[in-house]
Amino acid sequence: MRLMLTIGFNMTRMSDDYANLTELLNQVVTATGDFHKSLSDRPVGARKWDVVSDIELPAQGVGSSEALREFLARHGANLSGSVGPRFLGYVTGGTTPAAMAGDWLAAAVDQNAASPGDSAAVAVAVQTLDWLKQLFNLPVDAFDGAFTTGATGANFASLLIAREWAGEQVGYDIAKRGMAGAPPIAIYSACPHSSFVKVTRYLGLGENAIRPVARLAETEAMDPTSLEKLLSAAPSGEQKIVCASAGTVTTNAFDDLVALSSICKRHNAWLHVDGAFGLFARTVPELADRTSGIERADSITVDAHKWLNVPYDSGFYFTRRVDLIERATGALPAYLDVEGKGLPHYVNRALESSQRFRALPIWMTLAAYGAAGVRDIVRRNCQQAKSLADWIEASPAFELLAPTTLNVVCFRAIPPAEQEDGDAWNRGFLKALNETGDVFMTPGAYAGKTGIRAAFSNWMTVQEDLDRVTNAMHTTARTFSARRQETE
Ligand SMILES: Cc1ncc(COP(=O)(O)O)c(C=O)c1O
Repeated sequence: MRLMLTIGFNMTRMSDDYANLTELLNQVVTATGDFHKSLSDRPVGARKWDVVSDIELPAQGVGSSEALREFLARHGANLSGSVGPRFLGYVTGGTTPAAMAGDWLAAAVDQNAASPGDSAAVAVAVQTLDWLKQLFNLPVDAFDGAFTTGATGANFASLLIAREWAGEQVGYDIAKRGMAGAPPIAIYSACPHSSFVKVTRYLGLGENAIRPVARLAETEAMDPTSLEKLLSAAPSGEQKIVCASAGTVTTNAFDDLVALSSICKRHNAWLHVDGAFGLFARTVPELADRTSGIERADSITVDAHKWLNVPYDSGFYFTRRVDLIERATGALPAYLDVEGKGLPHYVNRALESSQRFRALPIWMTLAAYGAAGVRDIVRRNCQQAKSLADWIEASPAFELLAPTTLNVVCFRAIPPAEQEDGDAWNRGFLKALNETGDVFMTPGAYAGKTGIRAAFSNWMTVQEDLDRVTNAMHTTARTFSARRQETE
């Protein structure tokens, strides 16, 4: 008997769209081209957008071409220029052409990269992770890992693995038996990223499990002597995890990983390193020594949507103990247990079950530009940061809050009068600077002061962009002071 299905109105609409797929995708190509061409003129950070609440859910829909037109008309002008060369906020990578192409393709071919049974996606993921290990000069056979949604996801996966390891030390299976009977677990860190603090909460360890380690004088880097003392004094039975930084977000401090790894070994502590963007220093010979010792880490967090310039959302982790996450997340019910030709089931190495083909934009980037391409972005961005820092040092209107050692410039606008509240002045100045639309920076706090961070991590940034940034800073400093005087 032949099965009769009703083709509804929307099925027809989808079929029509599908029949005209090339035309639709060409419209997207045109819109993308227009957007990228507009980057030199559009405000870097969009300033005004409306939450449109009075529009009803479409009952029937208008078809994809019309939907695209409507989206661009309604929201196109208020998209951020964060993919562009003068977005210096947070730590924001753009997207290289190869990564963009890979990401589009990942969406279009829509592979589920979770299990190796039906697609090459898992084999590509394995190869891409191997390439990344080579890129970062990490021992290929010692580490394994998986792709994540970003560094927060990678921190989550890494801490989950560390937590399982802590249970293993006393023969207690946390994944099975839960936290209630788990051994006490403490995390030692000097300057954990906020996302790491967040994941301690998710994992039932709690933020109070973090034991602050002293920092070396005038840096955000961990003092190894203080760590050694704290670990020596730890209560017996406590399981210890050390969370080290390879590149802090405000001053780009790197912990001494050679010293830390030896200390961890002596005290049987797990060493996790958050190298979300700082690990990229390892791709540049003159910066590589900052991460010396990371090859001895137990787990490492890395982002791809930052310095690798791959679209959101993309990150990955490496660990020596992938077996622990497989045990912790492991669930292969019959319907997922497909024959895998010896390839991993990423369903058991990542947090999600079904997974986007995140390897593809990274594979495309590495295939298209190689290690040299990545090295070039990192090197140029560091030179640009140094150049902005030099300009700031020479300017009477600004001062550096910390030395510039990688890609982040942490500085402060100097208030014209001593009695002025410097923190409030800097918040006001930053707002005025971002309103120029020429640049977008974000706040930073260091040494008890509110400042401003300019983070360089976009492949497109060139000297003309730097000139535009310094012009905007110079003009804003003048006009902001004048405006403040008028209102006094
Ligand atoms: C050192 C570090 N770790 C973790 C993160 C969190 O990254 P994501 O926003 O990709 O989750 C960041 C983001 O800036 C970071 O700089």
